[in-house]
Amino acid sequence: MAALRASLLCGVVAALLSSAAPAVVEDLDDTFKDTRVNDIWLVDFYAPWCGYCKKLEPIWQEVGAELKTSGSPVRVGKMDATAYSGMASEFGVRGYPTIKLLKGDLAYNYKGPRTKDDIVEFANRVAGPAVRALPSKQMFEHMMNRHDVLFVYVGGVSPLKEKYNDVASELIVYTYFFSASEEALPESVTLPELPAVVVFKDGAYFTYDEYEEGSLSSWVNKERFQGYLQIDGFTLYELGETGKLVAIAVIDEKDPTEESGRLKTLIQRVAKEYREHFNRDFHFGHMDGNDYINSLIMGEVTVPSVIILNTSNEQYFLPSESIETMEQLVQFINSVLNGSAQAYGGDGIIQRLKRIAFDAKSTIMSVFRSSPLLGCFLFGLPLGVISLMCYGICTAESDDGSDDIDALKREGMTDEEEEEEEEAEERQRAAELEGPEEGADDDEDDVREKDPEEKKTD
Ligand SMILES: *[C@@H]1O[C@H](CO)[C@@H](O)[C@H](O)[C@H]1NC(C)=O
Ligand SMILES: *[C@@H]1O[C@H](CO)[C@@H](O)[C@H](O)[C@H]1NC(C)=O
Repeated sequence: MAALRASLLCGVVAALLSSAAPAVVEDLDDTFKDTRVNDIWLVDFYAPWCGYCKKLEPIWQEVGAELKTSGSPVRVGKMDATAYSGMASEFGVRGYPTIKLLKGDLAYNYKGPRTKDDIVEFANRVAGPAVRALPSKQMFEHMMNRHDVLFVYVGGVSPLKEKYNDVASELIVYTYFFSASEEALPESVTLPELPAVVVFKDGAYFTYDEYEEGSLSSWVNKERFQGYLQIDGFTLYELGETGKLVAIAVIDEKDPTEESGRLKTLIQRVAKEYREHFNRDFHFGHMDGNDYINSLIMGEVTVPSVIILNTSNEQYFLPSESIETMEQLVQFINSVLNGSAQAYGGDGIIQRLKRIAFDAKSTIMSVFRSSPLLGCFLFGLPLGVISLMCYGICTAESDDGSDDIDALKREGMTDEEEEEEEEAEERQRAAELEGPEEGADDDEDDVREKDPEEKKTD
């Protein structure tokens, strides 16, 4: 009873404290739907049992603190999506954690890297106006220095401007949008026609042409990257979303042999000099090391080499001979474009089966690599049991032997089942908790459990 009273008291004190000064991250419940309307919210929809959510938790606190101290109008919250599943599905939450910025009727998904800086940048960008004005030459130059890719609407009121505003309010999740009068642009920029939508990047500028490029939104989507990029797994995913193919020099940056540097330069030059030909269909860049590509194609590419990926259907293309000159590279890219190059991979049923086997194999390999003993135990024991069973069945002369083995097997299984049941119970308990205070208590428990471990490692 005393313990109960003490914990009740704690709850009351905590509630008082939290009402006095709203936390940097607010715990949201199902009243959120009504209370949110007048504010811009950045919300982490989490599940208590999800590992990635736990990893995000401290970062989320930092995001909350930073947005608060910088005076941002964005309020930061988190919602247990398993406790308020109705609300979560109303907001279209499918996985955990899901990060959304809610602004009036619009909900913007955050898909970038889960670091404080990236999330704060996203919140500031999306919470601000969809189109930002560049009133002067100085301002334009300032923004040019800050951003690698700059979309600018130039001109007065027009149907194109309306379209631009619409596109901006949708694609602000990816990039900034600006508007300027012609006077604010550098003198070197000459536009044949106004109004115009222009993208400044790669030390040049390109104008949107409705008749050649199709819809403004697909043009923006394809132009929102620099002509040449250093590519990692995340950028590759983003590039793939534009529907273009990605031509990559796979190189080793730590050991810049002449060959690696040469291939990188070749791809860079093709990206620039053949922009007219290939920009519509290709992104260009280089990737450091072949680990990522190898796991993607379930094979091994040599370093350095060139590979072209079609992320829409998971096909890839390799040059039939090693590439020495720019002509060879251009020819290779042309052959992919006109369909004469041999395609590998794909997303057919055989490839999918191969993917399952490949993933299983690499999981096993990584366990063995990080701790061989555990690997032997995890995979060796079941194998041993199975072979013993087979042996027992094949050579069964007396019942005793095989009974023992069965007993062993049953014990092993029940252990696992019990563990799983415990976990499931925990989840259920977590899901059944209704009051936010209780939820908060739960979180504190987690922290307390972790603390001693951390101290030990220190
Ligand atoms: C890439 O994949 C898409 C989707 O299947 C397909 O329509 C397109 O033709 C492919 N491109 C090339 C060059 O194979
Ligand atoms: C496709 O392009 C390659 C490289 O430019 C060329 O050699 C080949 O003849 C072309 N094939 C077709 C069918 O156009």
